[in-house]
Amino acid sequence: MPSLTSPVPALSLRGVRVEYAETPALRGVDFDAAAGTLTVIAGPNGAGKSTLLEVLAGTVTPRAGSVTVRADSRAFVPQRQAISPTLPLTVRDVVSVGAWGGVPPWRRLDRVSREAVDAALDRMDLTALQRSPFRALSGGQQQRTLLAQGLARRADVLLLDEPTAALDDESAKRIVGAMAAEVARGATVVCVSHDQAVMDAAARVVRLDQGRIASVTHVEKSRG
Ligand SMILES: Nc1ncnc2c1ncn2[C@@H]1O[C@H](COP(=O)(O)OP(=O)(O)OP(=O)(O)O)[C@@H](O)[C@H]1O
Ligand SMILES: [Mg+2]
Repeated sequence: MPSLTSPVPALSLRGVRVEYAETPALRGVDFDAAAGTLTVIAGPNGAGKSTLLEVLAGTVTPRAGSVTVRADSRAFVPQRQAISPTLPLTVRDVVSVGAWGGVPPWRRLDRVSREAVDAALDRMDLTALQRSPFRALSGGQQQRTLLAQGLARRADVLLLDEPTAALDDESAKRIVGAMAAEVARGATVVCVSHDQAVMDAAARVVRLDQGRIASVTHVEKSRG
């Protein structure tokens, strides 16, 4: 059902089934993300949360069902991301890849893109580390760098898979703040998370269990 704040969902799934080999990961999932809102996907390990996000990102194609995307651009920050430890990339290089959105990072960025990179570095508290080699960072710092890469994309849709897992409280608060800022600029954010602080910031929490939607909770916002 369309939400009151936004009648047109930016992302819609109907009857989506995904199977890895013979094992079903999603067994007929209907899902909507209202434009300009934060939706959280929760549920136990192996429930199919990452698979659902990958379907929304377009990196996994369902065996059956339909996927509707009403957005020009999508940024996806996966749960695990392999950046070769031998690549001599700085933090700024990694974030700049996001600003290019598919264009090779060895070309020069224009001013608007450079500003998007600066803003994303600042949001993730990485400005002082921007010249450091990515491979020299701690796990949490690398995670923040990859989130900054997603922010630098300034996409219509931002898809985040457990962005606060393994981060300290201070960093987790930053991520929640960044997601709120993305929603405020009109982005549609879908975030897999077990984190109560993230759920508290959401308009809707969708719980998955064993490849099916177990519940959908609309969060009442009483601000001000
Ligand atoms: N590439 C793959 N090949 C085979 N099976 C997979 C693959 N990716 C996921 N699965 C299986 O699909 C199911 C759903 O996995 P998924 O990663 O979507 O779960 P999740 O809810 O994100 O779990 P977690 O909380 O551990 O991240 C699991 O049973 C998993 O083993
Ligand atoms: Mg997962």
